[in-house]
This record gives sequence, C-alpha cells and structure tokens, in this order.
Amino acid sequence: MSYERLKQRFAQFGQEQVFGYWEELTESERASLAGQATEVDLDELQRLLDETGRPTAEADLEPAPCVALPGDRYHDRTWVEARERGEELLRDGKVAAFTVAGGQGTRLGFDGPKGTFPVTPVRNKPLFQVFAEKIRAASNVYGVAVPWLIMTSHANHDETVKFFEDAGFLGLSREDVHFFRQGRMPAVDFDGKILLESKSRLAMSPDGHGGSLRAMVRSGALEKIRDRGVEMISYFQVDNPLVRVLDPWFVGFHAGQGSEMSSKMVRKAHAGEKVGVFCLRNGRHVVVEYSDLPDSLAGARDDRGNLRFAAGSIAIHLINTAFIERVAGGAVHEKGKLPFHSAKKKVPYVDGSGEVVSPSEANAIKFEMFVFDALPEARHPLVLETQREAEFSPVKNASGPDSVETCIRDQLKQFARWFRSAGVELPVDGNGIPLYRVEVSPLFSTDRESFRDAWSRLPEKPAIRDGLYVE
Ligand code: UD1
Repeated sequence: MSYERLKQRFAQFGQEQVFGYWEELTESERASLAGQATEVDLDELQRLLDETGRPTAEADLEPAPCVALPGDRYHDRTWVEARERGEELLRDGKVAAFTVAGGQGTRLGFDGPKGTFPVTPVRNKPLFQVFAEKIRAASNVYGVAVPWLIMTSHANHDETVKFFEDAGFLGLSREDVHFFRQGRMPAVDFDGKILLESKSRLAMSPDGHGGSLRAMVRSGALEKIRDRGVEMISYFQVDNPLVRVLDPWFVGFHAGQGSEMSSKMVRKAHAGEKVGVFCLRNGRHVVVEYSDLPDSLAGARDDRGNLRFAAGSIAIHLINTAFIERVAGGAVHEKGKLPFHSAKKKVPYVDGSGEVVSPSEANAIKFEMFVFDALPEARHPLVLETQREAEFSPVKNASGPDSVETCIRDQLKQFARWFRSAGVELPVDGNGIPLYRVEVSPLFSTDRESFRDAWSRLPEKPAIRDGLYVE
C-alpha cells in the first residue's frame, strides 16, 4: 500500500495522529512507521473499541465438572488405564511441548527473557534449562524426539534465541526447537487513539498468550509439527518449573475423553487466590479470571463449607493441533476467533508537542487474547485435578508469594518427599522445609516413583549434605 493510501486509511478510522510527525521523519523512519502501521488491523481495533466497557454478565456461572484425584493414582483402574494410553501416545510421538514465553515479566523485575531466570536451589538452572531437561528425560523414556515450540515476543525473541545458541540448545537437537514470535496490538489512549512510542514508532505490545494459537499457524510452526505426526501440544507457561512437561496421565485422560482442549486444575488455596477459575457459562467451559469473578462467587461455599468455585487454573493445557487450526484460522490472514480483553496500563507516549511522556497513572488501553478463551469452542473439554505441591509453583513476583523464594522452597519440599519415598529423611525445620539445599536433575527423575527407582539402582548412594546435586 502506498504511503498516501495508508495515511488515508488511518484517517478514515480517526487515527491520523499516527502520521502526525511524518514531515519530520527520514525515509527509513517513514518506511518503519508504515511497516508497523500495516501490521495494525484497523477493522479489528475499531470493533474492540466499540466493545470496550460493555459489562459482562457473570451471574450465570456454575462450577465446571472436574476429574478428581483418586487416593492412589497408581492403583486406581481409570488412572492406570489413562496412564497406559498416554504413554502409548507419547511413544508414538503424538505430543509436542509448548511454552508461552512472550510475557514481559514486569512483576519479576528481571531484565531479560523470563525463561533465562535462574530458579533451581543448587545449580541455579534457568527456567528454560529445567524444561529442556524434562523434555530430554521424556525423550529418553519414550524413545522419541519431542518437538518443543517456544513463543517469544518482538521484545525478547533475539535474546531468547541467542540464549539457546550460547547454551548449545540445552542438550536438545536444534531441529527439535521451534521459536516463533507472537503478534502485537497497538495501545490506544482513553479516546481510542493509537499512541506513538516515538515519532516514528507505534506503541505496540504483545497480543497475549491467546495470540499463540494464531501465531503458531501464521509462523508455520503448527504445520511443521503436524508434518511430524504431532496431534496435540502440551501447553505451559514459562513461569512454573514444577510443570510436568509431558504427563502420560493427562495425555491419556485427554485422548480417552476425545477432548480437543484439556486443562489442569488445583483446588484454590483460599477464596482470593489470584488464579483463574474453571466454570460453566451456558453449559460451556470457560476460565473466569480472578479479577472478573465477583466476590460473592469467589467466596461462595457448598453445604460442606468448601469453596464452590474451587478449580484454580494453573495454565497447563493439552490442545489438539486440528483444533488449533480450527480456532486460529487455517488461512494465513484469516482472523482468529478468540476475543480480546482490555486492560488499563501505563504506556509512555509522544504528546502533541512531540515530547515523550512517561505517565505515572494508567493512560492507555492494551488488548490481549487469552488462550483459555478457546475452551468454549472445544469439543469434550476435560479438567483434571493435580496436586499443587507436585506441579505448581510459579515465579511471578520479585518477593512474597509466587516468588523465587517460594518456588525454591517448594522444589526443596518436593525433593525431600522423593527422598523420603526412597527411605531417606532430609533434616527439616519446624515448617517441614529442608535445612539442606539439594537438587535432583530431571534427567535423574521427574517424579517420586522414577526417583525411587533410579535411587534404588544407584550402586553407591551419595552422602546427604547441603548442596547435594543428584544427576
Ligand atoms: C495466569 C492466568 C491465570 C492462571 C495463572 C497461573 C492469564 C490472564 N491468567 O495469570 O488464569 O491462574 O497464570 O499461574 O493468563 N504471555 C505471553 N505473551 C503475552 C502475555 C503473556 O507469552 O502477551 C505468557 C507469559 O510469558 C507467561 C504466561 O503467558 O508464561 C502468563 O502470563 P501472565 O501475564 O504472567 O499471567 P498471570 O496473570 O500470572
């Protein structure tokens, strides 16, 4: 599109301010601004602006049904069968791993891609390394190379790829790791005008983890893994090192129910816990974000005094590749079907006099898609309960809850449980937290049972001490 046509089109949508400094720009700045402007889907943006602020009714929510954990997964028939089915699919190479790592990690205050943040108690392994080792462990167990998709953002893509290159792809084959960037959306002011970050750049931000589905299609990553025979992706967030990256139980339940998108849940720790909640709205599965769940529902109790809306989302899903194709649109330019959510944020912008302003209060609206909004579109969705202590301890904040401190504590407690199952007691403090820092490599074991086996096979057991690393 010529510059003139582009400017006219923006003017038709009342967005001519984007080109307000056009006359001052060099030819290359003009080209870059025009390039960014072409990325913006003005029809979509207008639709969002028209919808912003419309209230959503949350009154008709019911708790979603969940498959509850049995007393003993290893002896419950349904669970044993699910595991066997899952293991077969894993051996057949039907499952790929998928990490969403496009977030900006603002709350953590870490300068760099969050996946490079060190989290383990002894070796200080970064998050990406923990996942890579879990994937390598699964490859060893199932005798198959597991593709790993990683979604980055424009802001962290190059740094993420460089991290992997410098680290020799963390022991994985380069051809098994597929990076792709997520899409972006412009930020607008409260009058709906697109903001400029500089005179020649729009204020663009990542389009949310829901953007992963269409970015996976657009980038060709989905096609690549489908060509390898992959039928489902195991989706997880970059912030949770406890995740079972490739979980045979989950895969088995998902496939057994003929589900197109499944999710894991933990029981909420308390009414106000900041996790999304699995609900039914008009009979369809949805996740309602903590900020959108009315207090009356968040605190509602059943006859036995338990929280009614207790199924907390830990943002772990299995999603069929054919389903992704359906919701995210097969054709490259076709629009995805996921809705956008809007959030008020502080966004630095160029004001009318050409100065860059860093606001102290929210001044802008950002638009994001959430992956769980695909749930109502999915056939036979399944929600499976898992143990919080075994699978969920995200690193979100610099300190306090969900920080590296709580995450290391949870890893230590997990390792201590594994040791205990092998007959070894680690010394603990009054709160049950091990006094020694120990660490078990995912290449040694990824759960209690595999730890017990591997430990029993060790010809010489290492001495239990502070700083012990078992590999
Ligand atoms: C998220 C979930 C919440 C869930 C909780 C569990 C949302 C809106 N909420 O909350 O339901 O209970 O995790 O820990 O998702 N990301 C991208 N691109 C983006 C935005 C985010 O890749 O544009 C990635 C991040 O890198 C991260 C993940 O998505 O891996 C989660 O993002 P974050 O914004 O931290 O979600 P939470 O608010 O913590």
